[in-house]
Amino acid sequence: MDTSGISEIQNAFDDAVKTVADKKSLQDLKIEYLGKKGKVTGLMKEMKNLSNEDRPAYGAAVNEVRSHITSVIEEKETALANEALEARLKEETIDVSLPGRTFRLGSPHPLSRTIEDIEDFFIGLGYEIAEGYEVETDYFNFEALNLPKSHPARDMQDSFYFSEDILLRTHTSPVQARTMQARKGQGPVKVICPGKVYRRDSDDATHSHQFTQIEGLVVDRNIHMSDLKGTLELFAKEMFGPDREIRLRPSYFPFTEPSVEVDISCFKCKGAGCNVCKRSGWIEILGSGMVHPNVLEMAGFDPDEYSGFAFGMGPDRIAMLKYGIEDIRNFYTNDLRFINQFKAMEDGGDQSESI
Ligand code: PHE
Repeated sequence: MDTSGISEIQNAFDDAVKTVADKKSLQDLKIEYLGKKGKVTGLMKEMKNLSNEDRPAYGAAVNEVRSHITSVIEEKETALANEALEARLKEETIDVSLPGRTFRLGSPHPLSRTIEDIEDFFIGLGYEIAEGYEVETDYFNFEALNLPKSHPARDMQDSFYFSEDILLRTHTSPVQARTMQARKGQGPVKVICPGKVYRRDSDDATHSHQFTQIEGLVVDRNIHMSDLKGTLELFAKEMFGPDREIRLRPSYFPFTEPSVEVDISCFKCKGAGCNVCKRSGWIEILGSGMVHPNVLEMAGFDPDEYSGFAFGMGPDRIAMLKYGIEDIRNFYTNDLRFINQFKAMEDGGDQSESI
């Protein structure tokens, strides 16, 4: 019996399988040899032409080839699958030793933080927050505050004018006039008004043409100077420490009568005199007074029934004092080197995070 055809097929397969490098070619090879019309199946079909004696040996030889080819293909399949897995693992490797990307978190601007602290304090005393317009009319900025057109006190608050009657507000006091007018003569009024204000000022280390103010206004029956003093004393202690005292000095504002400048005892030298308080032991922090009857009347409140106090402070100045900042322009130039110094004051210190 001639079985050379069988070994030829096996040899041909063994050669062919060596060049197979991917799943698809292996599948094709499998079909070529073991498929219905494949070479090994072809050998089986030859059986019927053989004599009864030859058939068992021939069949055994074909089976051997078939199981050889089957197991080589299986081995090859496993090897190819392993190779593919290796390649994928290599490609998808995550290098856990690489440093993570750092996300830099911002922090509140020292000025915003100061404004929020001041707001929080007054909200705690039952004040509401009122806001007005940065572009204001001459009427609300001056006239309704007892500062008629020819008033000399206007000189101190020169501003940027859009027209004769429209200007960038020079203080937050127009918000008190607007708030009172909106209440139509009905107290109580208890508001603070934070916002940006503008003045024609030479830019130096302590003045800026744009800065911030917080106005406070309380109007009700039986409001006295003692209410003003008590409120501002509490405020000074809250902002600058429990040992602070305040001092009221007579002053002048057209919209308050009497008017006072409020000083706090120096938090640095405790009154002994230092560079912060210019050796006086006291630091001026705000202007205030009892609301002028004319202002009450113009806003629709009866001055015989109602009285009130008002104050105006500069958060810029308060923040400068509190954090020892020497140049007001730092607040407005958005230099991150300046702003980031205040990050450490956040709870938890360093706020940068990596993932
Ligand atoms: N508006 C005043 C200023 O800008 C401050 C102030 C407000 C004074 C309220 C008294 C009462 O100088």
